[in-house]
Amino acid sequence: MASDQDILGRADVNDLEAIIAIANTDVHEAIHTVEDNADAIFTWDYEKGARPALNKLYEKAKTSQWNGETDLDWSIDVDPEKVISEMQGSNAAGPFQWIVEHPESPLKNFGDKEWTELGVESLNWRLSQFMHGEQGALICTAKIVETVPWSDAKYYASTQVMDEARHVEVFAKYLQDKLTGYYPINAHLKMLLDDIVADSRWDMTYLGMQIMVEGLALAAFGFMYQLTDEPLLKKLLRYVMSDEARHVAFGVLSLKEYYAELSDVEMRERQEFAFEAAVRMRDRFMQQEVWERMGVDGRKMVKLLLETPPDQQIFQQMLFSKIVPNCKKLGLLDASDQWLRHRFEEIGVIQFEDWADTGEEYLEFDAVTQDRAEAGA
Ligand SMILES: [Fe+2]
Ligand SMILES: [Fe+2]
Repeated sequence: MASDQDILGRADVNDLEAIIAIANTDVHEAIHTVEDNADAIFTWDYEKGARPALNKLYEKAKTSQWNGETDLDWSIDVDPEKVISEMQGSNAAGPFQWIVEHPESPLKNFGDKEWTELGVESLNWRLSQFMHGEQGALICTAKIVETVPWSDAKYYASTQVMDEARHVEVFAKYLQDKLTGYYPINAHLKMLLDDIVADSRWDMTYLGMQIMVEGLALAAFGFMYQLTDEPLLKKLLRYVMSDEARHVAFGVLSLKEYYAELSDVEMRERQEFAFEAAVRMRDRFMQQEVWERMGVDGRKMVKLLLETPPDQQIFQQMLFSKIVPNCKKLGLLDASDQWLRHRFEEIGVIQFEDWADTGEEYLEFDAVTQDRAEAGA
């Protein structure tokens, strides 16, 4: 069995120095290459609907396509400071409240100007990481088209490739035209995407992308959607979530069948991979690059973020509200002597295990169909 050193490259999940040491060393690189180590698989079994749930998802995807250029109103003017003041409401410190009150807090002298600046930078940073993650999804899904042995899954994955192209497109356009350009990829996220793409096993692409990265994205988009009143961003997020809910369902529906056949040893490898992904995503949300740009001591911030008591970390924990029930549905929490359950307890996210899983939820998220029905009524 692998140790944390093997899984994470550090023996202690909360090793401050090791977390800080993971930084983007080449922010100007234009091309990044990863070996994908996979066989492309043809199948001669063309029976459509052999897996009815995947077939249903494929049919849904074909009728729920949208066009980022014409379905969103790009003539809307966006004032980032106004967007932030609406999001922050009466509580500018938001998830950093505990840190503000800490005696060593680098944020203790923050006034309105600094909070607004932090809000604007954080929004830009978050949308930038969404955009980079979307490119990861584009590449992973193209890989799934090649590697998955089932035709219903190849068909569905091909629709997701188109969805992800549209997502990269709209986030890039929003950042360029409405905000002030984008941040380079966060090094923790990059490490995770590289690991997902490099794995030779087809189900690991799904586990890393559809279950972990997209599960987190769906929760994160949902928060931002609730918090913002900016009409362009709100509709953009609503439409992206409408696709994203199908993507997570694709992961759950595909892996449920495959994982039912795996041995405990094989399941343990999947659990370790899911845990690695969870830790990388938690680490990335410490937004080291934002502190650097703000001139705030990033080392101190990461230290205080790691020390923040669990009951003060509701926002960070909520990001796992889709991932944990989906892992449970796949049997990943309790296989191999409940290994992943214990690890999720350790990082404080197990409380979501009985929340709704995302196997069917995509029908409720289908904003495109809802809007068309309304327009036609
Ligand atoms: Fe996406
Ligand atoms: Fe997606």
